[in-house]
Amino acid sequence: MITANPWAPQRKRTWLSDRWGSLACKAVWDETSDVRTFLLAPVDGARIAHTPGQYMTFRIEDGDALAFERCYTIASSAARDGAIEVTIKRQQDGLGSSLMHDQLTVGKTIEAFGPSGQFCPVDDVEARYALIAAGSGVTPMLSILRTAADRGIELDAIFIHVARTVEDAIAVDELPILQRRIPKLVYSVLPSQGADKFRLTGDVLLRMVPDLADRTVLCCGPTSFMDMVWETSQSAGVALENYFQESFDFASGLEAEEVSEDAPLRRITFVKSGVSFDCPEGVNILRAAKDAGVAMPSSCSKGECGTCKTFKHSGEVNMQNEGGIRQREIDRGFILPCVSRPLTDIALDR
Ligand code: FES
Repeated sequence: MITANPWAPQRKRTWLSDRWGSLACKAVWDETSDVRTFLLAPVDGARIAHTPGQYMTFRIEDGDALAFERCYTIASSAARDGAIEVTIKRQQDGLGSSLMHDQLTVGKTIEAFGPSGQFCPVDDVEARYALIAAGSGVTPMLSILRTAADRGIELDAIFIHVARTVEDAIAVDELPILQRRIPKLVYSVLPSQGADKFRLTGDVLLRMVPDLADRTVLCCGPTSFMDMVWETSQSAGVALENYFQESFDFASGLEAEEVSEDAPLRRITFVKSGVSFDCPEGVNILRAAKDAGVAMPSSCSKGECGTCKTFKHSGEVNMQNEGGIRQREIDRGFILPCVSRPLTDIALDR
């Protein structure tokens, strides 16, 4: 029997980022005591084209309960597209991360959507960067650094990672190797606890990055941390267009919406499945779909992640998005139902 040579170069089709597909878990390893990396590859052998800083949305099965969705950043290099790595910290009281840690073992599959997001260095090769992360907010930074190393990009970057302890710092052993491959990379790992603890304040940040105003800042971490970096960047004079931050605090889910009883009802129709339901004007389409028991992919419910992106065949919506959709996609007729309130009857491509 002749079997395919796994070492041979393969021509692969591209994974489709606008629909759900299956990823197989190929390997799992521990990064720290509570952080684990999963190597995931499309079951059909497709290649996953992505840019550093993007994330995937995963559908997590919870026994007999309904599946739910969570976003995790791709931590691996965008230059390696046969599989992705996601690095997940087990959160206390975090159902999604606990189920990923406990159930996603080698050989299992998981449904995934994306890659999504635009948290990425700009195309300007002359740009200098400050990559500032706390905790597992380091994962998009790792993808940026690993991609730069794999592609031979001379990235001029100061990378600061705040972790609980040095032992809790993800990929701390890899940084000297990345620095050898990216000569202009300067990095610091700052423990926030223990005997050597070091508090990153705005003043300290400015001492560590004296030319912050001239750099493009990418920041990822808890909200209070990002607030500090944002305020420091603003006071230092970082241009608005040179400041980017990323948050995956999507746990709050879909809020109930107040709506007046006499709000006009708009009919939402899914063209492909033939499903339709009413949505009061003033309520977003995702909320109305969930209220009607109609399944729609979603994750952040805030217009940030792009998971719910859908083509609109007809009708008008009021859409207040938070970066989860590009202008050119809006121009082509796509909307984010989680932040779109109907002004007329609507037909969607579902
Ligand atoms: S669910 Fe994230 S943009 Fe709609």
